[in-house]
Amino acid sequence: MALLEVKNLKTYFFTDDGVAKAVDDVSYTVDRRQTLGVVGESGCGKSVTALSIMRLIPDPPGKIVGGQVMFDGKDLLTISEEEMRHIRGNKIGMIFQEPMTSLNPVFTIGDQIEESILLHQKVTKAEAKVRTIEMLRLVGIPAPEQRYGEYPHQLSGGLRQRVMIAIALSCKPDILVADEPTTALDVTVQAQILDLINRLQEELGMGVILITHDLGVIAETADNVAVMYAAHIVEYSNVDEIFHNPLHPYTVGLLGSIPKLNVETERLMTIEGTVPAPTNFPVGCHFNTRCPYATEQCYKEEPALIEHEKGHFAACFHWEKVKAERPADLVEA
Ligand SMILES: Nc1ncnc2c1ncn2[C@@H]1O[C@H](COP(=O)(O)OP(=O)(O)OP(=O)(O)O)[C@@H](O)[C@H]1O
Ligand SMILES: [Mg+2]
Repeated sequence: MALLEVKNLKTYFFTDDGVAKAVDDVSYTVDRRQTLGVVGESGCGKSVTALSIMRLIPDPPGKIVGGQVMFDGKDLLTISEEEMRHIRGNKIGMIFQEPMTSLNPVFTIGDQIEESILLHQKVTKAEAKVRTIEMLRLVGIPAPEQRYGEYPHQLSGGLRQRVMIAIALSCKPDILVADEPTTALDVTVQAQILDLINRLQEELGMGVILITHDLGVIAETADNVAVMYAAHIVEYSNVDEIFHNPLHPYTVGLLGSIPKLNVETERLMTIEGTVPAPTNFPVGCHFNTRCPYATEQCYKEEPALIEHEKGHFAACFHWEKVKAERPADLVEA
């Protein structure tokens, strides 16, 4: 049994503009010591999926209208709020997409980490302080005893991000959900943070769900990859398959737009158009407004996510054609 299994999750927002089906029938799993990378353009439902796992969807206007989130033999969507509070931040840690707004400016970083430890663990305040300084050291914050008493504004963006990671990891969770943990940071700090997450993952045996726009990050850290487009997972497989044998035209388009991996060819393919609004998805395949392979069938029927090759799922009627016609040199070996 997987450590965490999201099954047929549906999260909708009931807005004045209509029902936004932000996440519509999403399933994925993550195991111990494994990293699931979740990629896709802005607005595809990556964060809403993560927030649904944590049961942090604002209601109203949001509602989880279907599916299951199986963890430790239980469906997190049906347990009591009290049970969920015990799991959140304790068994499942989350690094939020907006770190600057998630830290409270009026409390020291020491207080904020300690609070999370005291909330979940039976330790004294003195023990929590020792543990907090240990965590600050673990996430690579220099002079942790001194930083302990500082306020968020006294820290650089990179250090604040490390504090967020320290909070997420302070209770040694089984699962870490990291939503764009490095997007706001410069490249060297980015690499350090990713190394840190990898190291802690090995030490603690965590399963990690890593959400990012950045396929370079996915290539370096993920074991499995879920490619999301307009509320659906359109392709799902291990990282090698996704990079070297993409079967969905959206994945091919995303791979074509990694500049770093295509220096030699100097090709920067982009996918024309934009993601449709979730109140207004097209009939048929959600990608049909942008897809070079779309046929009449794609404007009528929605393709299911099907295992077309061993362990490799794609939601496209024309995957064989995509496979035959995609550029051979999408990514350098
Ligand atoms: N509170 C809300 N009310 C209405 N719609 C919402 C709300 N929160 C999210 N949405 C919609 O849900 C969709 C999915 O959003 P989500 O934040 O999951 O995207 P994302 O894939 O994480 O994008 P990004 O890469 O920009 O973080 C978006 O269209 C968004 O507008
Ligand atoms: Mg997001």
